[in-house]
Formats: sequence, structure tokens, C-alpha cells
Amino acid sequence: MENKRLHIIKATLINVCRFLLAAVFIFSGFVKAVDPFGSTYKIQDYLEAFGISAWFPSFFPLLGAIALSTLEFALGVMLFFGIRKGTATLLTLFLICFMTPLTLYLAIADPVSDCGCFGDVWILTNWETFTKNIVLLLAAFVAFKWRYLIIRFISPKSEWLASLYSVIFILILSIYCLIHLPILDFRPYRVGVNIREDMSIPPDAKPGVYESIFILEKNGERKEFTLDDYPDSTWTFVDVRTALKEKGYEPPIRDFCMKSLETGDDITAEVLDDKNYTFLLIAHRIEGADDSNIDLINEIYDYSVERGYAFYCLTSSPEDEIEQWKDKTGAEYPFCLTDDMTLKTIVRANPGLALIKDGTILKKWSNNEFPDEYVLTDSLDKLRLGEERSTDLHKIGWTLLWFILPLSLILGLDLFLVKRSARLAKENQRLINPLIKNKMRKNIVAGNWKMNKTLREGIEFVKELKEILAEDKPNCEVLVCTPFIHLASVATILEVSAIGVGAENCADKASGAYTGEVSAAMVASTGAKYVILGHSERRAYYGETAGILKEKVKLALSNGLTPIFCIGEVLAEREANKQNEVVYTQLADSLFDLSVEDFSRIVLAYEPVWAIGTGRTATSLQAQEMHAYIRSVIADKYGKEAAENTSILYGGSCNPSNAKELFGNPDVDGGLIGGAALKAADFKGVIDGFKA
Ligand code: PGA
Repeated sequence: MENKRLHIIKATLINVCRFLLAAVFIFSGFVKAVDPFGSTYKIQDYLEAFGISAWFPSFFPLLGAIALSTLEFALGVMLFFGIRKGTATLLTLFLICFMTPLTLYLAIADPVSDCGCFGDVWILTNWETFTKNIVLLLAAFVAFKWRYLIIRFISPKSEWLASLYSVIFILILSIYCLIHLPILDFRPYRVGVNIREDMSIPPDAKPGVYESIFILEKNGERKEFTLDDYPDSTWTFVDVRTALKEKGYEPPIRDFCMKSLETGDDITAEVLDDKNYTFLLIAHRIEGADDSNIDLINEIYDYSVERGYAFYCLTSSPEDEIEQWKDKTGAEYPFCLTDDMTLKTIVRANPGLALIKDGTILKKWSNNEFPDEYVLTDSLDKLRLGEERSTDLHKIGWTLLWFILPLSLILGLDLFLVKRSARLAKENQRLINPLIKNKMRKNIVAGNWKMNKTLREGIEFVKELKEILAEDKPNCEVLVCTPFIHLASVATILEVSAIGVGAENCADKASGAYTGEVSAAMVASTGAKYVILGHSERRAYYGETAGILKEKVKLALSNGLTPIFCIGEVLAEREANKQNEVVYTQLADSLFDLSVEDFSRIVLAYEPVWAIGTGRTATSLQAQEMHAYIRSVIADKYGKEAAENTSILYGGSCNPSNAKELFGNPDVDGGLIGGAALKAADFKGVIDGFKA
């Protein structure tokens, strides 16, 4: 009970961590994809701050920005749906492990003022970013460590489709926003903003409070003082500096300034106060501007002259570059100098175009969508683009719809397929075995590691298996039977899981001076519930006789263990057609003096010795014939009900490719698996033999 409660708390915590990470990654990937140039500039800032920008080709920042947003978004979606938990949580952990020390450095050294994690949507200070990363690091660690507890919302069959769609969606979104402008604009210069108003400080706004810090010296010791604690004249003055004590009101726009190249005058106020339309061609570096649309730019300029609108080109390039542009393009429009960062912020294109009126931004275009003669058909006050508008909300709606709708379709399809295969599996079972409705016996797939795996390997195996089966629930009972030394650790790991644990053997004595032996009680004390007895290898190599096995079975039962009792003929016996006789004798000599109650606790495993580890499998028909025979023998001895309730497993080179056919037989209730139980993926393949 206590364990169960703990398990629920743990699972809840892990899933909270996973959703937190998913939300952060989806959000940050999305906002970066919406504004790829924004992230590109940020990466450039970083490379410059670290003095390594020369190491990378010029396209690197843009490529890096798109790759980062795609990676973040895809990881977020994977975490959200529980897709490829191992890979997703490991990659998340790596990413955050890389980011956390980097953000600590940024917080301490402050080479770039805002980290850019969430684009312009949510600007964090470097210390806030570092704190955020510490929280995410903890969440990523928890999610990775207990990833098998992450609940999945999509079946493994459809997960690739959801992941692929998310990647395609985010890539298309990035490319769309590169070619056009960001569909969501969180910058100070978004459409609808009045630059003049956003530059002004309201009269009632609180100004910043500054104070003087005095640096004084006494007996070689230097100390800082303010006016409030200014010391006596025994201290000598060294220096004074001004520090910001309390942050005051800062207007949203602080850096907009247009300096005419011709006159050298600041014409900002004149342009912003103009009640008529003004076109601003914005090319933060004119030498890098895309010149494929120069004719169109010149046409827009001609149009503005014709209609009496102002037209300026704003750049931060030096004069000689501007002259070169003029020569190359025949530009006649006036140029103004504006800060590079400001221009990059106004429009994410080089060149871009903005239309303003009375200080308000009415529209922005990237160079791929400049208005042409078919748009500029009349004076602007008669056209829709001359009207004041706020950000296009419908674009956001469409974008979300393009993501949510197809993804919901994928999820719906997945649900339909999962339900259909469950229904088919049920029908199949019913067709295969008419007794299925009354079938009380369990279907079991048990792994027999034999003398394989070190303790560490065994532990890794069961952790992996547990995770795989938590993601994709088996349609049968699953057991792992391990060497003695693994039992306690494996049983602890599998305690809160649907996987059972068994030993491969136990002693034929209850306790005492039997050096090297392990009793049934000891096996049971580890938490194991099963024990394989009578395996052909033990009969052949360790001389286990029917009499010895009889003792072992009794001890196992009296210690609460379920024996998986193995029977089967060797090749010569099969060739002499003596298999039934051999199997009958093995059953009768070791089991048939059990009471019907005790016998009901036995699981049988028919393992033709010639098929064990040889790659030769009994045919499905051979297996069914023998299993039916064994069941008839039990029916004779213990009655039909007991026979119907006994699980009879098949063993001998059973693997993922033949399991389904073997398990499809009405009397085959699962398998005892050797070689194919040593790798989790193979073992899962065998377990899936019970799936449709
Ligand atoms: P195998 O072994 O699957 O490697 O043939 C089965 C067994 O001996 O239990």
C-alpha cells in the first residue's frame, strides 16, 4: 500500500517534470521559429561576444537558429506525447547540461544582455535565465532517471508520424517567417505602435533614482560610501561614480533616431509628426541588402513622389557603401542613418519596408513581398494598406490550426488503430481457441537467462525491459528467470511492475550443510515468485533425476514458489517416435503424486531438447500436438478442469519471428525463452507474439 502510494507520487512528479520541459521547449522552439532572424542575430551576438564569429561561415547563425528551434520544438512534442522517452529525455538532459554552465557564465560576465531563450516574447535577465535552467536541469534529470514512468499518449506505431509532422511544421513555419516577416511580432516596432508615443516619457512617470558613490581611502584601505554614510575627514577622497539606485520608467522605444545623411540633421520628430504617409526602406547594412527587388523599390519611391509621400532609406552603413548602393541601383531617395540594432528590430528583412503615418506603423513588408503596381493602384488613403491595423490575429489562428488539426487527426487515427488491433486480437484469440472464453490459465512468456549476464548487465536489462513494457503493455504475463546472484536486485527493480521474477533452479534440500546450494526459501526471500525446475540442461549436466526433481518441486511449492517444470524428449527419442512416452514418464515420475491443489500451481514447459539453443524449432503442429497430448495426460490424472487451467509453455529456439505462430496454437500458452531473452528488444518481440 505504502509502495503503491509512493509509486503514484513518483509517477506524478515525473510527469509534471516532463510536461514542464515539454511546455518550455515547445514554447521556445515556436517563438524562435516565428522569428528566425531574431535568433540569428542573437547567435551572432554570442559568437561576437566570445570572439569566435570568424570561425564560422556566414550562414552558420541562421542555420543554427533554425536547427535550434526545430530541435527544441521536436523535443517538446516528443516529451509531451511520451515519444521515444529514452532518446527524448537524454537529449533534453544533454541540451540543458550544455546550456546551464553557459548561462552561468553569461550571468557572471554579462557579455550579452538578454539570453534570447524565448525570443522577444519574454525577455529574461541573465540571472533569471540561469535560475530557469537550474529548475529545468532538475526536471530533466528526474524525467531521464525515471523515464519509464512517463505516460505516453500515442502508440509506438504512430509516433514517427507525429514527430515527423512536428518537424515539418516547424521547418515550414521558420521558412515562411524568413521569406515573409514573423507572423507574431513582439518587438517594440510592431504594426499599430505609435513610435512617437512609445518614445515619450509620461509626465507622471517615475524617473530613475541615481546616487553618487564616493571612493575614499584611509591607511591604504579603500572603501565605498554614499552621502548617507559619508565618513569623517580622516578619509581621503579618491574617486566618485554614479550608480542607478532605483530603476525608473523606461519607454518601450528608446533608440529610434533618423539622422539625415545630406544635412546631418536629426529629422526624427519631423518624420514622426508627419500627418501624411511615409515609406521607410530599412536596410540595416545596405551592402548586405538583397538587391533582387531594386526596380520595385525604385517604383515604390516613384509612386511616393507622385503621390506626395515621404520616402527615406534608413541604414547604419558607412557613406561609401551607401554611395555604392546608389550607383548600383540608381537610388534617388534620401538616406538617413539609424542605429543598426534598431533597424534590425524594426523589420526582420534586409531590406524591409515600413509604412508609417503620424508616427504610427501601419504596415511592414519583407523584400519578398514589397507592394507592386497591382497593390499601389491608388493613393494610400483609398487603399486598405493605408488603414491603421493591429497584428493579424487570424495568422496566429491559422498557424495553430495547421499544427493542432493534423496532429489531432494523427492522434485520432492512432486511437482508431489501437482499438481496432485490440478488437482483432480478441477475435483472433476466440477463433484460435474456442475455449478462450472460459480460459482460466495464464499466457506466460518467461525468459531464462541460463548462465549469462553479469549483475550489472542483468540490472540494465531489466530496467530497459521494464521501460519498454511500461510503454507498450504486454498481452501476457512476463517473467525473467535469472541466476541466483541477480535475483534480489532484479526483484527490487521489478517490484513495482508487471514483470515477475524467477530463479533457474533451487536445492532439493530445505537447508543445512549443502555448500554452494540455494534453497527454495532463500529464492522466495528475494521476492522471486517462480523457479524453473527440471530443465534439460540440469537433467543432462547435473544429473538431476526424477526423484531429485520431485523434492525440488515440493520444496518450491511449500515456499510459495511456482515451479516452471520442464519436460521434453531428446532427438533420438523423437526419431524413435517415443516423445509421448518420455514426456509422460517425466510428468508422472516427478509430479503425479501431487494433490490436485498443488498441481494447479504448476506451470509446465515443453522443451524438445533437440530444439533448445539449436535454432531448430518444433513446428507449430509438433508443438500443438505435444501440448494437446500433455493436456490430455493431465486431464486423465487430475480431471478436465485442472488440465484446462494448466499453462503449458513451449521452449526451444522460440524467437520474435516464430513466436506468434507458436503462441497461436490453442494449447500453447506461451514460451520459455533462452537465447531470445537476452536482449530486451528480442524478448519484447517474443512477448509481442501475443499481440495481433
Ligand atoms: P532457447 O532456450 O530459446 O535458447 O532454445 C530455451 C530454454 O532452454 O529454456
